[in-house]
This record gives sequence, C-alpha cells and structure tokens, in this order.
Amino acid sequence: MIGEREHWTTRVGFILAAAGSAVGLGNIWRFPYVTGVNGGAAFIVIYLIAIIIIGYPMMVTEMTLGKKTQKNPVGAFKAMAPNTPWWLVGALGVFTGFVILSYYSVVAGWSLAYIFRAIAGFAPGMDFAELFYTTIGVDIGEGPNIITPIIWHLVFMALTVGIIAGGVVRGIQRWVKILMPVLLILLLILVVRAVTLPGSGAGLAFYLSPDFSAVTGQTFLDAIAQSFFTLSLGMGAIITYGSYLGKDSTIGDNGGWVVGLDTGIAIIAGFAIFPAVFALGLEPGAGPGLTFITLPAVFAELPAGSFFGFLFFLLLSIAALTSAISLLEVVVAWLVDEKNWTRAKASVLMGLVIFLVGIPTSLGYNVFGDFSFLGMDVLDTYDWFANALFLPIGGLLTAIFVGYVWQAKRAQEFANDPPGKIPIGDWYGVLIRYVVPAAIIIVLIFGLIDTFAG
Ligand code: PFF
Repeated sequence: MIGEREHWTTRVGFILAAAGSAVGLGNIWRFPYVTGVNGGAAFIVIYLIAIIIIGYPMMVTEMTLGKKTQKNPVGAFKAMAPNTPWWLVGALGVFTGFVILSYYSVVAGWSLAYIFRAIAGFAPGMDFAELFYTTIGVDIGEGPNIITPIIWHLVFMALTVGIIAGGVVRGIQRWVKILMPVLLILLLILVVRAVTLPGSGAGLAFYLSPDFSAVTGQTFLDAIAQSFFTLSLGMGAIITYGSYLGKDSTIGDNGGWVVGLDTGIAIIAGFAIFPAVFALGLEPGAGPGLTFITLPAVFAELPAGSFFGFLFFLLLSIAALTSAISLLEVVVAWLVDEKNWTRAKASVLMGLVIFLVGIPTSLGYNVFGDFSFLGMDVLDTYDWFANALFLPIGGLLTAIFVGYVWQAKRAQEFANDPPGKIPIGDWYGVLIRYVVPAAIIIVLIFGLIDTFAG
C-alpha cells in the first residue's frame, strides 16, 4: 500500500525547497561567467526581461500543473490528458532529470573537493590551473587521476540520496530549512569581503554599466537558456515540487518568491565575484574556469583568503546539493507514484544508476579524453543535450499543453484559487500561448544552427 501523498508542512518550506532547486551551480558558477563573456550589465538587462516574460509564467505553469494533479510529471500529464501521448512530455522530463543530475553531480563533486583544497590552503604563486586539472583528473605528468573525480562524484550523489530517501518533509524540507539560510549568510559574507577590497570599483563598474556593444544574437539565446536552467524549468522539477502543495497555497505569490530569490541570489553572486576578480587585476570572461581557476587565485591573494575560499566552495556545494535533490526527486516521485516503488528503493537504486551514467563525464578528462561530439567533451555534450534540446523542448511542449490543451484560461483560474497578492492576470494567457513558445522555438532553432554550423 502506498501511503497518503506528503505535503509541505509550511509555506516557507515549499518556497525554500523550490528556491533551493532553482539556486544552484547555475547561479554561482554559470551565471557569473556567462555574464562575464556577454558584457556584464548588458546581459543582465536581457536576462531580467527573459526571467519576467518567460521564466515567471513557466514557473507558474509548472507549479499549477503539479498542484492541480498532485502527481509526478508523467502522472500529471496522464491525469490532465488521459489516453493521449502527452505523458511523453513528463517522461522526457524524468529522463532529463536523470541526465542533468549525472553531470551536475560531477561538477558538484569538484566543488566538494575544493572545500578541502581550500582547507589545505590557497597560497600566492600556486598553479591554480594545475590544481584544477588534478581535481578533474587530467594527466599532468603523473598519470591520469581516475580516483579523485569519481570519489567526489560518489560522495555528492550519496548526500543527495540521503536527503531524498528521507522524504518530502523529513528529507527535503528539513534540509532546505537549514541549508538555504546558511547559503544566504555565506553569500552575504563573501559580498561584503569582495566589495570592500581596494580596487573593487572596477569590478562594480564592469558589472553595473551595460556594454551593449558586447550584445549579439547569442546573448539573447544565452539569456533565455539560462533562465530555464536557473529556474529548474522545462523538466518537471517544479511540477514535482508543486505536487506536494496543498489546496490553500497561492501560486502567483509562491512563484514570485522563487523567481525573486533565484534572480536575487544570482545577481548578488555577481557582487561577490566581479569586484574580487577585478581587484586582483584578473579577467572575468574566463568562461567555466572562472570559479575553479580564477577565484582560487583571487582567494590566495586575500588576507585569510583560504578561509573565504572555504566559505565560497561550501556555499557552492550547498547550492548544488539543494538543486540536485530536486533532480533526483523527479525520478523518485515517478517511480513511487507510477511504479509503486518504495521511496528508499527508488532513491538508492536511481542514485546508483545516475552515478554510473555520470562516470563518463567524470572521466572525460582522462579515460574519455579523446571523446568529441562537435568539438565538445563528454560533460559539455551531456550539458548541450540537456540545455539546447531537452529543456527547451520540454518547456515548449509544457507551455503548448497548458496554453492550448488544458487552456490557459483554466490554468489561470486554478492558479488564482485561492487568490494571492500577485494575481495571475490575462497577460498569462498571452505569454504562455504566444510569447513563451515563440521565444523557445527561436532558441531551439538558432541554438541548433549555431552548434552545427559553428
Ligand atoms: N536550477 C539549477 C541551477 O541553477 O543550478 C539546475 C537545475 C536544477 C536544473 C533542477 C533543472 C532542475 F530540475
């Protein structure tokens, strides 16, 4: 017998869980470097517009589908459109959660490793590129290091499984209530440290004065893709968390909180990073290496820098963990609801399988170092499939489903019951039926052209 469906016991519990899902590597690792390569503040302006006209309506849509059906993504589509192939959209979501978690856990594992690298000490003159390479397993003359990246990937996955096996209230909600406040405090400490460094003004100037000459078509694509990834949209994570909402929850307000927290934390993360990077005369446009190579070099130069480095990688790991649990929860909720698995069995077995699927990304810098798909390594390939294909396709089909099959009007009515401080007005139908699908189709097409032609 399957027991009654669990529900968040407090409104804050849900908001922190969904914000915990949203705030992750996407905010602290990806957002700053994407902003760095896209001209700073100019990117942020475009990103904010994408969040408002695409991110927020999609967030409301997914929360509504979950709350309405009280089901995992596959069950949600089945309940709304029985005996049609629409459930495949939910299945794509479960599959995407599987794929994203497999490599997300690898990067999160590097972050865990760096907590200990920081404890060992970041010192001036160290070769931080080399430190990074040894962490991800590149052969720097002593033979490839296969063990380190895999162990940290495994440790991170075990933490994720441990929380999810505890359930919605005793696992997810209990942990996000501890971890999210810690995350905020760590972030604020790092911001104060960064903006009070001598020479931090140049970083603030870069971050706050838009350079529209750096804006290209790619900037818009990056902004829209980032808004999906950062808000955990397009794959049913928010449907799943929404399915644990009770009747009296207010969708418009909850959605506003989650989108606001995610966006606020991404922007604040920029205030921790750019001033510090510029204060030391380093380059912000370093791409993915910004977090793991440039920042440790920054910490090495600061008084008590290893301590701040420790706080930073702790922050990054916590952010990653509260996101990873939502990815695993999608897969587990599906098995529990649809296949009658116990939560314990689903969490442990799926954790193990996802760990195994992630191994090629973990060994992408040694054993699978020769792998190349359109010039991308294993991790970038997984990431490309998830971000350039699965999330936009999942988001597009979800928007079309709710906009045209369920009908935006009905979703709107349901979302407004009970009414909250942010009413879902008729703008919702316009956005979800026309603007969101059009934007996603553009991203899909140009993203594909760019990858295959570029
Ligand atoms: N939103 C997370 C981040 O910004 O790192 C990533 C993510 C988590 C994407 C959960 C999708 C998801 F379902």
